[in-house]
Amino acid sequence: MTKVVIALLGGIAATAGTGAAAQELNLICSADVVICERLVQEFEGSHEIDVNMVRLSSGEAYAKVRAEGRNPQTDLWWGGTGDPHLQAAADGLTSEYESPMLAELQPWAVAQAETSGYRTVGVYSGALGWGYNTEIFERRGLTPPACWADLLDPELAGEIQLADPNSSGTAYTAIATLVQLMGEDEAFAYFKGLNANVSQYTKSGSAPVKAAARAEAGLGIVFMHDAVAQAEEGFPIAVVAPCEGTGYEIGSMSMIEGAQNPDEATVFYDWVLSAEVQSIMPEAGSFQIPSNKAAKAPEAAPDLADITLIDYDFAEYGSAERRSELLARWGAEIGGVAAQ
Ligand code: G6P
Repeated sequence: MTKVVIALLGGIAATAGTGAAAQELNLICSADVVICERLVQEFEGSHEIDVNMVRLSSGEAYAKVRAEGRNPQTDLWWGGTGDPHLQAAADGLTSEYESPMLAELQPWAVAQAETSGYRTVGVYSGALGWGYNTEIFERRGLTPPACWADLLDPELAGEIQLADPNSSGTAYTAIATLVQLMGEDEAFAYFKGLNANVSQYTKSGSAPVKAAARAEAGLGIVFMHDAVAQAEEGFPIAVVAPCEGTGYEIGSMSMIEGAQNPDEATVFYDWVLSAEVQSIMPEAGSFQIPSNKAAKAPEAAPDLADITLIDYDFAEYGSAERRSELLARWGAEIGGVAAQ
């Protein structure tokens, strides 16, 4: 849709006709497509800026931003797990910006900005866990797993889905979490064991619990808020916080270095950090904890205070070296034997 902008200059009406370009914003959105579309709709409804949005999983988004390199087609990247945003920052692919909205944000969102030299910022957070289909578990007489260790039980063979960490930030968070909980070699041994129970590695992080909701799988390892979203939609999904403790994401946002529409990107950036906009998220079935201190956290959002969280080292696991190394090891040791 092209909007015709009419500018009133000192009483003279100047109509921007065919020659004048409409204001545009090229956005990558890495959260769930429903919230992505809702944000675009709200933004376009309140601004004279057209948004071209593409939904990509976090790892895919990072790869696109990297591939565009010095000729960026993307202006802004909103959402998705923080680790690839931090890697993009370290690579110099994203630009420094200290938003005036930082003062309104939770300490973890500001810490993400500080870690990256203000090349990214936290927009929401949520803990990793899983959702299982209560009807399937009941029908098959399966014991609901409470701990990471329980997911290795042979009775769960073929019941589990997880995303592929190359495309999905959720799955990368799972690797980084277990490496921090157990140590690297033990974590890779764990994923090899888990592989026996995994029926499919999906592209997007929330797909596993959507499959469980529709009885295409028994259980999906996902962010707990993605499992909550399915339960809130009325599917028979129970949500689990693993007993050993778990990792979490700081969903992030970054402006692209050399963006063609930096002014429009800045307008969206500041707008989307406001309490008012972040309070819309639950209406779109998005149950993360918002980063603006004054935003209403959704009632159904898992309370991070009730979950045993690890002290996730975002600087280390978002560093280019560590992320590349872990993905390469996953590819070599697990990816090759994965049931696609
Ligand atoms: C879902 C979650 C988000 C998360 C995103 C990552 O949309 O609701 O909180 O940031 O997944 O997506 P990915 O496909 O990269 O795992």
